[in-house]
Amino acid sequence: MKDYSQYFKGPNLQEAKKRSHQQVDHLDDVFEIPADMVNVGRGKKYYIHTYGCQANERDSETLAGILEMLGYDQSDDIKEADVILLNTCAIRENAEEKVFGKVGYVKNLKKNNPDLIFGLCGCMAQEEVVIQRILEKHPHIDLIFGTHNIHRLPQLLKEAMYSKEMVVEVWSKEGDVIENTPVTRANHHKAWVNIMYGCNKFCTYCIVPYTRGKERSRLMSDIVKEVEDLKEQGYQEITLLGQNVNSYGKDLDDQSSFALLLETVAKTGISRIRFTTSHPWDFSKDMIEVIAKYDNIMPAIHLPVQSGNSNVLKLMGRRYTREQYLDLFHTIKEIIPDCTITTDIIVGFPNETEEQFEDTLSLYRECEYDLAYTFIYSPREGTPAAKMKDNVPFEEKQQRLERLNEIVREKALKQNQRFYNQVVDVLVDGVSKKDENMLTGYTAHQKLINFKGRKEDIGQIVKVKVTEAKTWALKGEQIV
Ligand code: 5AD
Ligand code: SF4
Repeated sequence: MKDYSQYFKGPNLQEAKKRSHQQVDHLDDVFEIPADMVNVGRGKKYYIHTYGCQANERDSETLAGILEMLGYDQSDDIKEADVILLNTCAIRENAEEKVFGKVGYVKNLKKNNPDLIFGLCGCMAQEEVVIQRILEKHPHIDLIFGTHNIHRLPQLLKEAMYSKEMVVEVWSKEGDVIENTPVTRANHHKAWVNIMYGCNKFCTYCIVPYTRGKERSRLMSDIVKEVEDLKEQGYQEITLLGQNVNSYGKDLDDQSSFALLLETVAKTGISRIRFTTSHPWDFSKDMIEVIAKYDNIMPAIHLPVQSGNSNVLKLMGRRYTREQYLDLFHTIKEIIPDCTITTDIIVGFPNETEEQFEDTLSLYRECEYDLAYTFIYSPREGTPAAKMKDNVPFEEKQQRLERLNEIVREKALKQNQRFYNQVVDVLVDGVSKKDENMLTGYTAHQKLINFKGRKEDIGQIVKVKVTEAKTWALKGEQIV
């Protein structure tokens, strides 16, 4: 066992910033349940609320798997839970404020049920400012743990059950790659598959390299085995997950690369493969060719641009210019002509000028993205951009966001219209929440589609004729 004494019990962003050369081990026998915790949850319920990205969604599936192994049953009703976990996101301030709202709500639940264990985990737990605020204002939280030690939940829960004090265990530096933790997947036909953890890019606005640690890849053999098992269990679709999947394998001693991994996963024959997120900087031509070559790799790429202006991109630390991004964009469209490309954009980066913002608009018009996730810049304490003075008023940033979103809507509709009257393959997710006579699912191109169809085909891939194209979704009828 490694000596973990260098890891802190509370978070420290300065420590989290350091990228050590210490070797990362791939361990498959670290997860354990203390003898006196076996069945501790029998007859009791847990509730997990997940904020943020797919990495968190997948982590919550591990938390659920561990709690079920301890005997707890899942509950959708927070009021009847004996263990409540908030798996939090730190990416923007408004994500954090949502969490604090919920923390206040749980305070009241604890008044009625003093035995309730209330835990907070995920990215916010990795931030010193958050822990300070909790210690000062929210002492009713029983347990705080971070993104690197979720496999220690049985031990931490035990401490929280017996301790009168708040239990805080946050490792500022990542540990090893831990295999063989339990998992209870939220979905029975689509699965998230982690391929790597952490991020080394250090874009100047982003907190993730601090909250998720340095890049660590899982071994290709472990990933492929997971996909093969999922296929055998009847899963139709997997999404390979990493903060920057293109960097996959760079930290391993073997020949692994994302292109090779994608190809190997494609050869398992699982019906649908997706991946997210890609950084434009190391998106290789090999990768594009592999995506084009295999029918079971879906033609949908999320390629965050963040800004259309090279100077802003430089200040953001993005490592590419507008021209280089456009080159890559057009190369992808050439090799995979009908490929869906989506993006992320931040408006109102410190001191962004009107002209620089207009460069983002013109890039958007050129790329005509299928969809974009657009955000107002939010300063994150500890990141370089948070130290920059900013002369752009917030109202101006809001107006820029609205101007951008208008084009986003226009292009989303245009890109959906290209499927009008076509027959598309749809993986059926279930009954539409808005209309119980309609089914809902996603096309290969990652288009949301609501359609009239057969309920017995939920979880299967079916043919659907597109009868209407709207801004955010398609409508259709199943062909049987
Ligand atoms: N402020 C606003 N948006 C941010 N993102 C990341 N950090 C910030 C921040 N500080 C956005 C980026 C990223 C997406 C996941 O969130 O666009 O791609
Ligand atoms: Fe995911 Fe980033 Fe939010 Fe953490 S901060 S949950 S990694 S989006």
